[in-house]
Amino acid sequence: MENPGFEMQEEGHPNMVSKIPPKNNYPYPYLFEQKKTSCSLMKIFLVCFLACLITTAIGVLILSLVYVGQVGPKPGQDMMDSAVEEKPSQNKADSRFSFLNHLGTSKVFKFEGGAIQWARFRNNPKDYSTEAEMRFGTSINKHESKMTLGTLRIVSQGLRVPHWHFNANEHGFLLQGKAWIGVVDEGGSTVTTYNVTAGQVIFFPKNTLHWVKSVGDEDCLFILFFTTHDELRTLDVDDAFFGTPEDIASRSLKPEGGVQFIRTFEKQLEDQAVNLPANLNELIKNANYEQSANSSVWKYFYDLKGSREFIFPGGIIQWARYRKNGVGLNENEKIYSESLNQNADTLTLGTLRIFSNGLRQPHFHFNAHEMGYVISGCGQIGIVGDEPVSEFTVGVGDVFFFPIGTQHYIKSACVEDLLMILAFSTGNQLQTLDMDDYFHATSDHILAQLFLKKQPEFKKIPVFTEDQAVNIP
Ligand SMILES: *[C@@H]1O[C@H](CO)[C@@H](O)[C@H](O)[C@H]1NC(C)=O
Ligand SMILES: *[C@@H]1O[C@H](CO)[C@@H](O)[C@H](O)[C@H]1NC(C)=O
Repeated sequence: MENPGFEMQEEGHPNMVSKIPPKNNYPYPYLFEQKKTSCSLMKIFLVCFLACLITTAIGVLILSLVYVGQVGPKPGQDMMDSAVEEKPSQNKADSRFSFLNHLGTSKVFKFEGGAIQWARFRNNPKDYSTEAEMRFGTSINKHESKMTLGTLRIVSQGLRVPHWHFNANEHGFLLQGKAWIGVVDEGGSTVTTYNVTAGQVIFFPKNTLHWVKSVGDEDCLFILFFTTHDELRTLDVDDAFFGTPEDIASRSLKPEGGVQFIRTFEKQLEDQAVNLPANLNELIKNANYEQSANSSVWKYFYDLKGSREFIFPGGIIQWARYRKNGVGLNENEKIYSESLNQNADTLTLGTLRIFSNGLRQPHFHFNAHEMGYVISGCGQIGIVGDEPVSEFTVGVGDVFFFPIGTQHYIKSACVEDLLMILAFSTGNQLQTLDMDDYFHATSDHILAQLFLKKQPEFKKIPVFTEDQAVNIP
């Protein structure tokens, strides 16, 4: 198949399905043989009875297997999962997976030139590897999050081949390595190419052809966000080409040698989604990695690492986001800001660093869902929403999700800083409200009446000059 990393269904399940019907059909040939010979009613009855028995037995067997797999006390993956971390009651272990995905332990889609892993929704529940993954996928879909997360590793000189996504914008954060990017926009009339290095952000609007070539010495590792909560629709250029009749391709490209030339193209057995031909050095004689003008590059690129740092007592936030009138942005950053705002359904990205023992205090976002990926350190996350869930632990490679209207907090729990890349489902300015701010904003006597507590007591909650969004005890 074309694109295991990106395609909608995986192989494997069709086999299972096709094995079952032959078993069910088994009694019928037997029945016909009996009919041909002396045809006593009793014999037919007995044969039918036998057939019924066998069919029923198989049915019961299948049903009980399905039941044990789906409804039972889930002795499989989930149990293993929770045994690794804490050992809360089964229900609590379950509900946190509406907000948590252990991406690092999920299925790896391997290619010659790299690998892809997913935290996503699947149409067919059988495509999930674990109950926990299904819970997460169902949650992001049910909340209409407009977000899917994937990691893309490309080895040095490997290429994520040119492709399109038809139902999502793509935003990426480069964790490691160096990549040369190409974006084809406006009916092929503009091609923008540029290099990105670790800590920088890329943006591919929906339906733009794009490629990513790893040009550094170490692997590239991208954290990718796609703005869909359905299955991602992707097409690679080689698949589009091999899907086109030879004569049509020949008449379109008008190559020297005509259709004979087109016939020299060979479809590879291996999926080329992320490729690295063994004879690459023979194939390529003259690669140039040009950079387009700033005015086009910055529509698809942002130097997050080099952008302004917002410093709090307990941590640091940096943003790749839209600002009205470009407030606080330099000339290049303004281009990115406008580009986000002009395309529909874009994301706001940011890195959040919480120092050891620091706390991103409880807060809401009113115009965006949030999805994040833990880059380093470890933490505790708490959520107050319509679904009760107890505080849970996150570590490197974990993905978390906060639907609109869930108050959430993040504590840094290791000696190392907790560093995360965050995405918010808005291409507009993010609306946020912190707990200390809504307490200070509410009149003392209203709080007194609400909490059945003497009014002067509320003077004990201090107001700081410095924003306490990320604080330290
Ligand atoms: C981009 O990176 C490649 C590979 O390291 C390098 O050869 C090229 O000069 C870079 N281009 C620019 C414009 O920096
Ligand atoms: C492009 O932007 C960079 C800073 O991001 C600057 O150093 C460079 O001079 C700019 N190039 C042009 C041609 O304006």
